[in-house]
Amino acid sequence: MRHLISIIIVVLVLSAAIFAIAGLHGRISRKPPLEIFSDMDRQPKLRPQKPFDMFANGVSSQLPPEGTIARSTPIQTASGEVYSFEDSPVNTGKISGTTNFVETNPLRIDAAMLARGRERFDIYCAPCHGKLGDGNGITKKIGDMPAVANLHDKRIIEMADGEIFNTITHGKGLMGAYGPLIQTQDRWAVIAYLRALQLSQLGTSNDLPAAQQAAYK
Ligand code: HEC
Repeated sequence: MRHLISIIIVVLVLSAAIFAIAGLHGRISRKPPLEIFSDMDRQPKLRPQKPFDMFANGVSSQLPPEGTIARSTPIQTASGEVYSFEDSPVNTGKISGTTNFVETNPLRIDAAMLARGRERFDIYCAPCHGKLGDGNGITKKIGDMPAVANLHDKRIIEMADGEIFNTITHGKGLMGAYGPLIQTQDRWAVIAYLRALQLSQLGTSNDLPAAQQAAYK
């Protein structure tokens, strides 16, 4: 009997407490709400551009890391052209402000770049196009991809460098996009190496230094 009474008292007290808290739910009040779980509504964080004395400049916002370029910032190249980062031929393969492809590689080509291009080509392009670029990669041999472009086709030899850049970046037809896998500068290096590959099939004895030409005439 004593047990029963204490159970009833506990139940009554608990229900009174629940009504006292939850019963007011929905009423308008000027007091801050009762918070059991705060859901991180309030947290010690910094808002942008607010005074904050723990940083040397006294403000919560810090300068971006060195070398950061806003996408719309005009940049001047070594050759004096000015364009925004996102409109630069290096990033788009197109002449700034137009949709026309650039004819030639906008980066300076040297031996190191060609070596890098060869390495990237052998990794990313050779499986399909073959190390020679003739379209006879391993995927053709195992019958995985029947019609891979021969990069020595007249059409591709005559294609603007910018269009090849576009094909590598976004893919074309059966070929997937390699932009996400190959860094921008490396894509141009691959193109420079591809041009060397093409030249290796197109060269004649006239391309040799004069002193050596006689030996091949
Ligand atoms: C997974 C296989 C595969 C890989 C890897 C690959 N390609 Fe291709 N590529 C193709 C196929 C297939 C085509 C023909 C696309 C079509 O016409 O449908 C093609 C077409 C091309 C073309 C001609 C596009 C045109 O306008 O007709 C170029 C240029 C080219 N590839 C360059 C490259 C370069 C450079 C790489 C390396 C970065 C590369 N490809 C990697 C399969 C591949």
